[in-house]
Amino acid sequence: MALALSHLLSLLLVLLLPYSTIAQTSRNQSLGSSLTAQEKDSYWASPSGDFAFGFQQIGKGGYLLAIWFNKIPEKTIVWSANGDNLVPTGSKVELTKEGLFVLSDPTGKEIWKPPLDRLGVAYAAMLDTGNFVLASQDTVHLWQSFDHPTDTMLPTQKMRLGSKLVARYLEMNYSNGRFQFTLKSDGNLVLQTRAYPMDHPYVDYWPRPEEYVGSGFQVVFNKSGSINFIARNGSIVKTISSSPGSTQDFYQRALMEYDGVLRHYVYPKSSSGSWPMTWSSLSSFIPSNICNFVAIELGGGACGYNSYCRQGDDLRPKCLCPDGYSFIDPDDVLKGCKQNFLSQSCDEAFPESDLFYFKSMLNTDWPGWTDYEYLSGQTEDFSVFMNLLFMLAAFFPIFRFKYWKPKALLPYPIMPGMNLRSYTYEELTEATNGFKEELGKDRKLNLLVENDEEAIDDMKRVKKYVMIAIWCIQEDPSLRPTMKKVVQMMEGAVEVSVPPGPSSFISSI
Ligand SMILES: *[C@@H]1O[C@H](CO)[C@@H](O)[C@H](O)[C@H]1NC(C)=O
Ligand SMILES: *[C@@H]1O[C@H](CO)[C@@H](O)[C@H](O)[C@H]1NC(C)=O
Ligand SMILES: *[C@@H]1O[C@H](CO)[C@@H](O)[C@H](O)[C@H]1NC(C)=O
Ligand SMILES: *[C@@H]1O[C@H](CO)[C@@H](O)[C@H](O)[C@H]1NC(C)=O
Repeated sequence: MALALSHLLSLLLVLLLPYSTIAQTSRNQSLGSSLTAQEKDSYWASPSGDFAFGFQQIGKGGYLLAIWFNKIPEKTIVWSANGDNLVPTGSKVELTKEGLFVLSDPTGKEIWKPPLDRLGVAYAAMLDTGNFVLASQDTVHLWQSFDHPTDTMLPTQKMRLGSKLVARYLEMNYSNGRFQFTLKSDGNLVLQTRAYPMDHPYVDYWPRPEEYVGSGFQVVFNKSGSINFIARNGSIVKTISSSPGSTQDFYQRALMEYDGVLRHYVYPKSSSGSWPMTWSSLSSFIPSNICNFVAIELGGGACGYNSYCRQGDDLRPKCLCPDGYSFIDPDDVLKGCKQNFLSQSCDEAFPESDLFYFKSMLNTDWPGWTDYEYLSGQTEDFSVFMNLLFMLAAFFPIFRFKYWKPKALLPYPIMPGMNLRSYTYEELTEATNGFKEELGKDRKLNLLVENDEEAIDDMKRVKKYVMIAIWCIQEDPSLRPTMKKVVQMMEGAVEVSVPPGPSSFISSI
């Protein structure tokens, strides 16, 4: 009898053994569990082992609290908590006894904490979908990474109204970058440039205005590997991308990439097919050629100021500097280019003007509605008026665009005559209400910038620019400042004194 019992026990043990190992990986992380950032692997894997949550070392910069594909050698990151703020060795993420989830550095300083709608977290779990959840005893997800995406979307994940994927800054820099994929609360799905380093969108660059598809409700990455833009009634408004293989055979992800392109990548789970054992981008990326799409007046475009963009043979955008210019930062070419020469000056007799030459560039275009520079002959009486228009044209873009932030422009001071949009007389008439307001009477002044609270806050600057403009339209040419002085006044290097009243001129228009 005793023998039979021990046999039975060993049989039970053998039967239970596989279950106990599975339970090891699929185990819920209970209150009090923690992970420490250290060189050897420090993570919680999902039951299948496909995904892991934990610390990954990023170069020598420190550790990123992240979720990644754990079965492929690349350990590709799909979500991260502290891209702006890497943490040193010895940092810790802990599910406290009180049910709080906190990332803190070795001194105990809190670095990151997910916002929780209510208390009552009972366990944390890394799921096989790539979703990391904090759940209550009754398995309600009180917080889940799928609701707070960074730059990646995974199969079974949904984007709701108002949510976005923000591109990282560079391939290996997980700070927020320059582009985002947004499902606006009005139901439009767009790609936008961002007012880096601030957290605001600048302008939409996809789709083209005439191709807008509104009235959507969700973006759904379904199990067959299709990314669909869905209406409230469930019908498909637009298929963003679809994969040749299902999520059973391929790891898949959609990535808002640092170069401004949204790409759908697949990675075969086994080497039996014809696909290479690495991430392959599907050809349905958007926009089809970002060099042609980010053709907007505001911000640095696809490649930054003073640079140009060309789609390479690999269908990826390539940023280049024109002759005579070089990259501001060769490790971050999207910052744009700087000139390697002294600017030409017309207001003083510089003999070096001989050194300047024109160079033609074939098949190259300045985006927007106008050419880079525009000159036309004018009679003297009328050129006074053109000066006014020119100054207004220089300052108006600042007041017209809703998302303008002075700080965003600081790294790239606006120079007169560069990257300006020119306005037609009709546009200015409309913008100024038929030139109704007299300038100069106390880039009533608030009437000019009505409905733009940021600009109203910045009235001092507005006043300064209008005073500069008035200096520039003095009837006596000897009173008008040189272009160099205008730049100095705009930059604040030179005080702007109150100009003689131009009212006689204004009233004569
Ligand atoms: C995790 O905990 C919840 C709630 O107690 C339970 O329903 C679930 O089965 C657990 N999962 C695993 C893999 O143990
Ligand atoms: C990422 O880039 C930003 C912007 O240039 C920089 O401030 C930050 O230090 C970089 N992060 C890392 C880890 O290099
Ligand atoms: C995913 O969407 C595609 C359409 O884009 C559809 O044909 C397919 O049936 C969907 N799959 C699932 C599992 O819903
Ligand atoms: C579903 O909604 C879309 C967009 O609002 C609309 O175009 C379409 O006709 C609707 N379909 C049905 C079956 O109601």
